[in-house]
Amino acid sequence: MERTLILLKPDAVERRLCGRIMARIEDRGFKFAGVKMLKVTPELSRQHYAEHVSKPFYPLLESFITSGPIIALCVEGPEAVRVMRDMMGKTNCRDSAPGTIRGDFGLSRQMNLIHGSDSIESAAREIAIYFKPEELIATTSAL
Ligand code: CMP
Repeated sequence: MERTLILLKPDAVERRLCGRIMARIEDRGFKFAGVKMLKVTPELSRQHYAEHVSKPFYPLLESFITSGPIIALCVEGPEAVRVMRDMMGKTNCRDSAPGTIRGDFGLSRQMNLIHGSDSIESAAREIAIYFKPEELIATTSAL
């Protein structure tokens, strides 16, 4: 059983797509071990996107991710990191295949609706940024 950190970004909230995206995640068979709505601060953005802080696109990324509320999800299930990345599609929505979340709902590289941890190590680090241990519910399932 694996956990990954998923963010439904400000564009997903603004466009009222969260219910549909969360339904896709549940329909696939995953469970939510944690769900939280919050506003990302510049400090939180720098912590989460530490590897991107020095990149040219970082100022735009920070202004976007702090522009409105997001929904943070701790998603749990078999190979959750890899399967969620496959479901999300490519970073640039325009490169994402139909049937993926970004391929079905977006056209932007920056406002790409959803973030998902890119490795098991990143997932552990990112889940700890957004959730205290006591905020996560241990799901019991034979998945
Ligand atoms: P995410 O999966 O959250 O990880 C880093 C984010 O930075 C990415 O989604 C995009 O929103 C953004 N991003 C990545 N690469 C670029 C880029 N070349 N130009 C602008 N934004 C980018």
